[in-house]
Amino acid sequence: MTEENFFDKKMSRREFLKKAGIGGAGLALGASAASAFFGQATEEARDSFDGDEEIPFYGKHQAGITTPVQKHVYLCILDLASTDKTSIQELFKDWTSYIAKMVEGELVKETEANSFRPPHDTGETVGIKPHRLTVTVGVAGTFLDKLGMSDKKPAALKDLPAFPRDQLREEFTGGDIIIQACSDDAQVSFHAVRNLVRKGRNLVTMKWSQAGFLAIGGRNQTPRNLFGFKDGTVQPDKKDYDNQLWVTDEGWLKGGSYFIIRKIAMYLETWDRTSLHEQEATFGRYKESGAPFGKKNEFDEVDLNLKDENGDPLIPVDSHVRLARESGAQILRRAYSYSDGLDSKTGQFNTGLLFLCFQKDPEQFVTIQKNLGSADKLNEYISHIGSGVFAAFPGVKKGGYLGQKLFE
Ligand code: HEM
Repeated sequence: MTEENFFDKKMSRREFLKKAGIGGAGLALGASAASAFFGQATEEARDSFDGDEEIPFYGKHQAGITTPVQKHVYLCILDLASTDKTSIQELFKDWTSYIAKMVEGELVKETEANSFRPPHDTGETVGIKPHRLTVTVGVAGTFLDKLGMSDKKPAALKDLPAFPRDQLREEFTGGDIIIQACSDDAQVSFHAVRNLVRKGRNLVTMKWSQAGFLAIGGRNQTPRNLFGFKDGTVQPDKKDYDNQLWVTDEGWLKGGSYFIIRKIAMYLETWDRTSLHEQEATFGRYKESGAPFGKKNEFDEVDLNLKDENGDPLIPVDSHVRLARESGAQILRRAYSYSDGLDSKTGQFNTGLLFLCFQKDPEQFVTIQKNLGSADKLNEYISHIGSGVFAAFPGVKKGGYLGQKLFE
């Protein structure tokens, strides 16, 4: 089948797979090789091999917040190019229907049988399953201002205060809309953002974007960041989500969450010259096991009162974990690593952490970041270079659309 014929057929990605009678791997291997391969594989192994698992789009909350982290994120921050509220509302309706399809492994829209027009879907995920794709959308305070809805702006949806060691760059800071596309396949995540942005041509422009990755040893294992430490161990308890994570006040954001992003450069060459002892003291956790100092296992309770043989605090007073914990605040963290070639000035890796976190109130982040302040030993190895505060919409009911309560 030629490429043109392929798109001309009114066929969803899933239908295509069904017709082909094989999974994504089969397309690459050829049908007979695939049959031989799957002949030996169990049903379970087949699913995890070809990314069959779907995360439901509809629900009380948006997916991609409490969803167990996927391997890849493609994050895109957009600015409004139009201040026409009705056009943007229509765009959000279209985005909703696109996302609902993409998370099920479908093309964004059936393509007309007219090969003289560009296909509706850009096509790079044809033959690829959903890979747990989630797409999470939020808007900044500036979005409401530009569309004449400042009266609906919650007091909490405002810029973060300046923190002492900030090195924020304008190009990575602010923006009106955020799209977070997480999945277990980098191209599936990219495709999702690309097709949404394409639909919004003339209405939105891209401000900045960043791809991020994680190595996941197993579904319930904590990934390691580029400093080699398990990152994401301590999270708010599920029972506390209404106190820590979800907005519960009546209004358009009820069931949503505040989404804060920080692009944080990590200086690997300095870190890699640091002794293991110093590295572990920076966090107050052991590198290999991820256990807090004085304990054996990753999920053992952090005990800030433990003392070493000299009577000094075992978890150092300037360690990241102690300072974060002593703030008393909690946030849900979903951090991804990034690696973008080399820094042209230093000739070193251009790497860092795409620090993504969700909370009921941005004050939670502010409280922690203030307590980390200038004291955090981690500061020797990092710089915050990008920032943004967004309101991640509540989930969508079937027949509804993202941001419906804000627009209507
Ligand atoms: C490049 C920057 C950062 C790195 C490499 C990093 C790494 C880590 C690591 C390895 C842990 C211990 C394991 C865990 O519980 O996940 C941790 C804990 C934590 N981090 Fe970070 N972090 C960074 C930035 C931040 C920022 C900006 C915040 C918030 C303002 C933050 C808040 C926390 C919190 C709340 C904990 C849990 C503390 C507890 O045990 O109660 N981190 N971080």
